[in-house]
Amino acid sequence: MKRMKKKFRIKQSGTVKLSRVSRSRSPPSTRASAHSKKNNKTKSKEIVKYIQTGIPGFDELFDKGIPQGRSLLVTGGPGSGKTIFCLQILTLAALRGEKCLYLTFEEPEERLIEYLENFGFKAKELIRKGQLKIIRKDAFALAGYIEAMLANAKGELLIELKEILDIIPTEFHPDKIVIDSISAIATALPPKEEGYRVFIEQLFKYLETLQATSFLISETEDSLGTVENFVADGIIALYNLKKRNVRTSALEVVKMRGAKIEKKLVPFEIKDGKGIIVYPEAEVFEEV
Ligand SMILES: Nc1ncnc2c1ncn2[C@@H]1O[C@H](COP(=O)(O)OP(=O)(O)OP(=O)(O)O)[C@@H](O)[C@H]1O
Ligand SMILES: [Mg+2]
Repeated sequence: MKRMKKKFRIKQSGTVKLSRVSRSRSPPSTRASAHSKKNNKTKSKEIVKYIQTGIPGFDELFDKGIPQGRSLLVTGGPGSGKTIFCLQILTLAALRGEKCLYLTFEEPEERLIEYLENFGFKAKELIRKGQLKIIRKDAFALAGYIEAMLANAKGELLIELKEILDIIPTEFHPDKIVIDSISAIATALPPKEEGYRVFIEQLFKYLETLQATSFLISETEDSLGTVENFVADGIIALYNLKKRNVRTSALEVVKMRGAKIEKKLVPFEIKDGKGIIVYPEAEVFEEV
């Protein structure tokens, strides 16, 4: 990383100062775009608000931000940083006063809380204040419910996900949700395409009704033809790249419906006490 072309400066606060111009600098929580204000007058048009993740450097990959209320996939191979990336997005949002829910079908809650504390995020305090909920679910129990529902649906394949998932505590209305991971649910289902496809379609429909911005973690970075890649509003792909004896973490925004994005693979680092820092102006593997 040290020989990279550095057109950015990391400030003490952990935020990245960029040399680029034309980026809006208004605070994340209040940043409904000028575009959405303009559209207020046009009744027929959807009013799009854009959110900032707060991950240093990452938001620079978007012209205005991520459209609020959409469902996005976060894909990547093992150890590419999917869990940490999503945990950081939620914690930063919770710190700004949003309600955030992390559903894990993989690692136990305590371990995720420990990661966050090690990165300097006061997860325990946010949980105590009710801003952040981390809940572990059993993928095999869920898969059993899905199978039973599919068997009963007799061709209609209408899954009442709200009832069977029971994923959102009734008194909690999250602004942001992470599901870690839909691959764990897929693995628990019997190897029949149909069940998984229907589940994914219904899950995305269900999330849409919640009006929260959702991040669904998936291990399927190479299989772009999968159902989730088509139904997702956006795809953020994380990589653990290898060139000779060097590995670099990199990410790209593969698609984001309704948002202008920088289509570029950019490096990132995971740092103790800080979490993920993205370098939008740097080249992956340059001069390695
Ligand atoms: N404190 C830390 N400092 C630096 N790097 C760290 C730290 N903690 C974790 N990492 C790095 O983050 C990587 C794992 O990140 P994460 O658990 O988010 O990956 P993942 O994509 O969710 O993996 P999996 O597919 O196994 O769930 C590890 O491989 C490790 O290199
Ligand atoms: Mg993970």
